[in-house]
Amino acid sequence: MPRCPAFEKLGLPEFPIILAPLAGVSDHPFRRVCAGQGASLTYVEMLSAKAILYKSQRTFDMMARHAEESVLGVQVTGGSADDVARAIEILDKQPFDTIDINMGCPVTKVVKTGSGSAILKEPERVYETVRRGRQATDKPFSVKVRLGWDRSQVSIFEVADAAEKGGADWITIHGRLRSEDYSFPVDLATIAAVRRRLAIPVIGNGNIFSQGDALQMRERSRVDGVMVSRGALGNPWIFREIMTGNSEVSADEWLQTVTEHLTWQQQAYGPGGMGAVCMRKHLLWYAKGWPGAKNLRERINTADSIESCLTMVQEFHRDLLAAGVTRRLQVAAEQGFIWDPKYEMDRKLDRGVGDDGLGLEPGLEPVPR
Ligand SMILES: Cc1cc2nc3c(=O)[nH]c(=O)nc-3n(C[C@H](O)[C@H](O)[C@H](O)COP(=O)(O)O)c2cc1C
Repeated sequence: MPRCPAFEKLGLPEFPIILAPLAGVSDHPFRRVCAGQGASLTYVEMLSAKAILYKSQRTFDMMARHAEESVLGVQVTGGSADDVARAIEILDKQPFDTIDINMGCPVTKVVKTGSGSAILKEPERVYETVRRGRQATDKPFSVKVRLGWDRSQVSIFEVADAAEKGGADWITIHGRLRSEDYSFPVDLATIAAVRRRLAIPVIGNGNIFSQGDALQMRERSRVDGVMVSRGALGNPWIFREIMTGNSEVSADEWLQTVTEHLTWQQQAYGPGGMGAVCMRKHLLWYAKGWPGAKNLRERINTADSIESCLTMVQEFHRDLLAAGVTRRLQVAAEQGFIWDPKYEMDRKLDRGVGDDGLGLEPGLEPVPR
């Protein structure tokens, strides 16, 4: 296939390795850490079209882009083609390089509004949403989907055709149904069948935790790139690993990367409260694969400042070296990274999946037509 013009416009490599939009996770400190390890493109977490149209401050805050970020995308979802198209007109004027429409989010409160994966039941609406979205922006433009709603409604072929016909530059496929949780295998054969059918590129997503997983996706599904999601949590080095095969992480490198993340976290959120609370989940994930991580994990929930996070991380590193541990152990996906999004999060201050700005602040008025 000739090179995709939209990938070229974005300056992406031959086989892009993309960090997924991750609700409650992919803020600019984390995106910069992943880009630093080789992510070709990163995304702001999913935003609600309604929240954009009502000018929700919380949602506009989520759009913050750091000056050091190179290629950045944004993702939107909505319950009607009109809402999504109008939101894309607004996003088009924001500092993003590419815009994606989420058609895969399974969270109940999202699908109840007709957003996320609810649209997979209506390929006609997929077409109309993509067509109207395409008219609203000249930027590279994509959709992210699942295979369908459930076993009785596997709509991926109609949905993929509709996305291509509507004018999407590429499609990202999470190879599971809305009804399937993370224990279900990713359907590489169906992604391959979609890939054969379409002229636009297909990005594969689902269960990429290592270079081996990415190669398998590339070989079996013939995808044009991969998107990493849970595999990047606590393991931003996965981008380097996929590119080079080097999966080794030394204790010193670990300390350096986590310290950098903490520094950027402090710059983004300030030294106390929110920044530290939002950092706790990252520290829990960063602890994976190291002997003695239990001690660190037990203390993390008491971290109330970036300074205290840093002290814990430095003490943990010092203890590792004292015990003669210089390299992270290989963590099998099923041991370490199969993870329930709600697990171990501080639900009081931090946000989790689905708390994505769909709940509007009181008193907001929509933008006039
Ligand atoms: C914490 C978390 C947040 C997520 N947020 C989003 C999101 O905002 N937009 C999106 O398209 N997918 C989101 N997803 C789904 C992932 O991008 C991905 O499609 C899914 O996790 C399958 O990939 P994996 O098996 O490699 O994790 C999220 C997943 C997790 C775990």
